[in-house]
Amino acid sequence: MVVLGIETSCDETSVAIVRDDRKILAHKIWSQTEDHAIFKGVVPEIAARAHMKILPKMVEQALNEAQLTPREIHGIAVTAGPGLIGGVIVGVMYAKGLSLSWNKPLLGVNHLAGHILSSRLVEEISFPYLCLLVSGGHSQTLYVKGINQVEILGETLDDAAGEAFDKGAKILGLPHPGGPHLERLAAQGDPEAISFPTPLQKSPQSMNFSFSGLKTSLLRATQKQESSHKDLAASYQKALIAHLSRQVGKAISCCKANQRPLKTFTVVGGVAANQSLSKKLLNLSESANLRFQKLPLDLCTDNAAMIAWAGIEGFKADISSTPSLNPRPRWPLTERFFA
Ligand code: KG4
Ligand code: ZN
Repeated sequence: MVVLGIETSCDETSVAIVRDDRKILAHKIWSQTEDHAIFKGVVPEIAARAHMKILPKMVEQALNEAQLTPREIHGIAVTAGPGLIGGVIVGVMYAKGLSLSWNKPLLGVNHLAGHILSSRLVEEISFPYLCLLVSGGHSQTLYVKGINQVEILGETLDDAAGEAFDKGAKILGLPHPGGPHLERLAAQGDPEAISFPTPLQKSPQSMNFSFSGLKTSLLRATQKQESSHKDLAASYQKALIAHLSRQVGKAISCCKANQRPLKTFTVVGGVAANQSLSKKLLNLSESANLRFQKLPLDLCTDNAAMIAWAGIEGFKADISSTPSLNPRPRWPLTERFFA
């Protein structure tokens, strides 16, 4: 089975063609970062127009790269939410058009389900597994039991992990999206220079996340002008990662205490690209006797290969969408993976 995937929910336009033996036959990602740079954030209207302009060309390029004709494609999978609604509408409408003109089935995929199933695109991982989803909009520790079956063990009470990186980067005067910039600056500084408070200290049982206090502490420390930006970045990143690791550690202990089956731990979403985070989570996994999966960088951040793969999982389970598929700006993962 070969599926074409389309992703347009934020500021990456991406088209991929993936085969059910996990081979990525074509993968195109166009990042709009430069279009939004002067606004220091993603402008939804600009994003939607840019997706619309480039999408047809990217589908053509992906087919060429895979050396396939539309006839050889089994179906079309498209991100139908959650995300910036203008972009999601562009993707869904374009996918509907392709589905009609190629006469192929259509499947609306939850973007977050795309991220969590990307682990199974990389290698054969059986359910259940523990998944830390850390992106620009979400931070959740998930016990993934199957398609349409996830249990949220922990989630953020305020900012998402990616937002914590981005807002911290902004305080330090770095460009948007700040995560990768902050990681590069942090590599030059001393992570022990400044000590940050431990979030949610008053709730020792909580497996949730809270990043806004750390961000405020960074702002105060920056305003004091006593430390270099390098040291601030390194210490802030260390505090973010320590918090993520501590809370995931509790989730692992909770699964073990309840004798729930657990062999593999995966980290997905844009923040999974952070090398210090994956090092820390690898150590955590080793000490808990779990296999740790680190995704290749281009599968951490938004991409269409994960959407095509989720499509394969859905089509194989005989799920498909009707032509009345509706884009959904909000769409909790616990409802269902496909629209
Ligand atoms: O999954 P993603 O590409 O888009 C969403 O669905 O949100 O995640 C984007 C987020 C941004 O906040 C970005 O700053 C963050 O992932 N990010 C990183 C790194 N690379 C991307 N954060 C920390 N370190 C990185 N290397
Ligand atoms: Zn994402």
